[in-house]
Amino acid sequence: MQIVSDIVSVRAALSPHRKQGQRIGFVPTMGALHEGHAALIRRARTDCNVVVVSIFVNPTQFGPHEDFERYPRTWEADCALCKREGVDLVFSPPAAVMYPEGYATYVTVERLSEPLCGRSRPGHFRGVATVVLKLFNIVAPDAAYFGWKDAQQLILIRRMTEDLNLPIEIVGVETVREADGLALSSRNRYLDAESRRRAPALYEALRLARQAFEQDGVADCAVLTRRICDHIDQHAGGRIDYVEIVSLDQLQPLTSIQKGNTLIALAVHLGGARLIDNIRL
Ligand code: PAF
Repeated sequence: MQIVSDIVSVRAALSPHRKQGQRIGFVPTMGALHEGHAALIRRARTDCNVVVVSIFVNPTQFGPHEDFERYPRTWEADCALCKREGVDLVFSPPAAVMYPEGYATYVTVERLSEPLCGRSRPGHFRGVATVVLKLFNIVAPDAAYFGWKDAQQLILIRRMTEDLNLPIEIVGVETVREADGLALSSRNRYLDAESRRRAPALYEALRLARQAFEQDGVADCAVLTRRICDHIDQHAGGRIDYVEIVSLDQLQPLTSIQKGNTLIALAVHLGGARLIDNIRL
């Protein structure tokens, strides 16, 4: 496994593979890798000849009062995971490589950046779209892999890729969960013991909504949203940032479930962590 930190070295390492017509798969990450990232890497490993992982804690997607400074940095363990999963190339640039002095260009994916997490994290998706486009330009992959856990991010990157005519297949990989249902996240390590015990109630609430729709025919989004909030209040506690039921393609609020085009998404502040989760119906 090769580890590089500058752009010229990424291009030099990938150029022979590209010349041989090999398929290059790319998994962008901010490190603190866990089994969710391993699932993305495994999928890339199955689909592609060459697998590239980037590890870069992107400052432009963090708000001024967010956790950029304390975001977990676990370099040794990240490299061990990449090696174990058969990654060919790790790209880990310093911030000055991605945002040199005088940097001034940002990408905004309109409409999709504003709802859900965009409302409480203004500027977040501008930072994500910008860094992902830059990484796409550096790695020039054939396919890139993103988790459904960050559904809004995945949908927005698909939109950007299509809008900007990038010849990259965007592959969504299902959320990986702990045995008790909690979605894996690098931020789960912020949870204290009591909050960790209560956190599975978020996914439980989403599962109950699915059950209400599929088994009892409850399709009214206001009713389902209320039930999810009540379950979270009773069993998880914390502070709900949002629970919303939106269309999967446009992320626009729905009044009634549209089968095949519905995302139920939530974000909850719980014991030092802001947890997000979602299901699709
Ligand atoms: O999902 C993440 O870890 C980040 O948002 C990404 C896609 C690597 C961009 O920094």
